[in-house]
Amino acid sequence: MSRKKIVAGNWKMNLDYQAGISLFSEITQMLKDEHRGNQEVIVCAPFIHLGALNKLNDVKEKLGVGAQNLHQADSGAYTGEISGSQIKSVGGKYVLIGHSERRSYFKETNEILAEKVDAAFRHHLTPIFCIGETKEQREDGSYFEVLKAQLEQSVFHLSSKDFERVIIAYEPVWAIGTGLTASPEQAQEVHAYIRKVIAEKYSQELADSISILYGGSCNPKNAESLFAQADIDGGLIGGASLKSRDFLDIVKVYNS
Ligand code: PGA
Repeated sequence: MSRKKIVAGNWKMNLDYQAGISLFSEITQMLKDEHRGNQEVIVCAPFIHLGALNKLNDVKEKLGVGAQNLHQADSGAYTGEISGSQIKSVGGKYVLIGHSERRSYFKETNEILAEKVDAAFRHHLTPIFCIGETKEQREDGSYFEVLKAQLEQSVFHLSSKDFERVIIAYEPVWAIGTGLTASPEQAQEVHAYIRKVIAEKYSQELADSISILYGGSCNPKNAESLFAQADIDGGLIGGASLKSRDFLDIVKVYNS
């Protein structure tokens, strides 16, 4: 089974309301003009944008909108938080879970992330589950174990029926927003490892059907060589997703 190619943007905490609308309008127009393949495009925007972007989205067959976080509960006294059903109610289809910035700045543990993954499924959102090792863990060689534990503790409780809907993003923490990119060989090594771990837990067939994205200083210059790797199925793009031209040039790597 051939797996989906996906390019997802992560706007993080950038862009005021109007700036978000402008960027999204540019992206939809460029997709109409330039998208020539089966690749799926996703924009993970701040919550305040989701409803408006969903209304503006007139290329829904190519482009989906997602959130960058959700609370694990369905509703209740959690001041300042947003639930999966609220994301769904404004047209969100995807949600980032486990981004390293959430793990480090907001102390989200593997256990909390497992609950967030379950919340995403309760509300029919597709999780883009992020894993990645720090610079120290890369240097001391423990990164395979770290990545495996992140999967085991937050997503491997899922049934195979649910797991087949998960998108995995490998984002080495040392490469996020730093301008340092994993080399295509380094990224491929990890992606192949992730697929192997999934095959051992579920099945080779399921592992072969899962899209595994690379993230961390991905840009129009390095996307082609990264996406050419056998186990890399696209990218999760931070900084470069804030410029429509750069984002589209990355999307177009998959044009047929
Ligand atoms: P970056 O961010 O492309 O700016 O490194 C990627 C991410 O954090 O998702």
